[in-house]
Amino acid sequence: MLRTAVFVSGRGSNLDAILNSEELINKVSVQLVISDKENCGAFEIAKRFNINFFTIGEKENNIKSSQLVDLLKEYKIDFIVLAGYLKLIPSELIKNFNEKIINIHPALLPSFGGKGMYGINVHKAVYESSAKVSGATIHFVNEEYDKGKIIAQKVVDISDVKSPEEIAEKVLKVEHQLLPFVLKKIAENKIVNIGGRIKILP
Ligand code: GRF
Repeated sequence: MLRTAVFVSGRGSNLDAILNSEELINKVSVQLVISDKENCGAFEIAKRFNINFFTIGEKENNIKSSQLVDLLKEYKIDFIVLAGYLKLIPSELIKNFNEKIINIHPALLPSFGGKGMYGINVHKAVYESSAKVSGATIHFVNEEYDKGKIIAQKVVDISDVKSPEEIAEKVLKVEHQLLPFVLKKIAENKIVNIGGRIKILP
């Protein structure tokens, strides 16, 4: 069982997709939900599934950034998923969870990624570029925003869209399919690095 912590900042639809995915039953267990926010939709989802949740911050009932690694070890976390988490991951966490942190990004990296490229900003940039496709990317997390090796991508046709919101809707749908698929492959040890390229085994 892959004991997983999910880092969030928003409504938590990707967390919900993980928790409701039948393909992850007996493979992935979400043990912690972590956010930089005091309240967010994702915390409401965590409550519904009786999952412990913590806010990273300086207030009394928050978890300090410096205590994060200890908390994750206390919960015996094997793997970390960033699902809408908007802050940069501290390098100490990356060192302690090397190649054990993934992020889902709502565009086809390496295009339309990097600092500030989140939420509707991404889809506005894609729309204004007149790109004919967009999609979701899942990648390993390193010290730079959206720069880790790409694990999986799923493309959507946006040639006929009329707004950035329409792109967001199409992309979010494939995110909810891609993330559980990749997590299952991770739990099955079917994500390998061959000559520097990440491959998903059948
Ligand atoms: C998703 O679009 C994800 O790709 C991006 O942040 C959004 C999170 O949405 N990193 P949700 O909170 O999972 O609904």
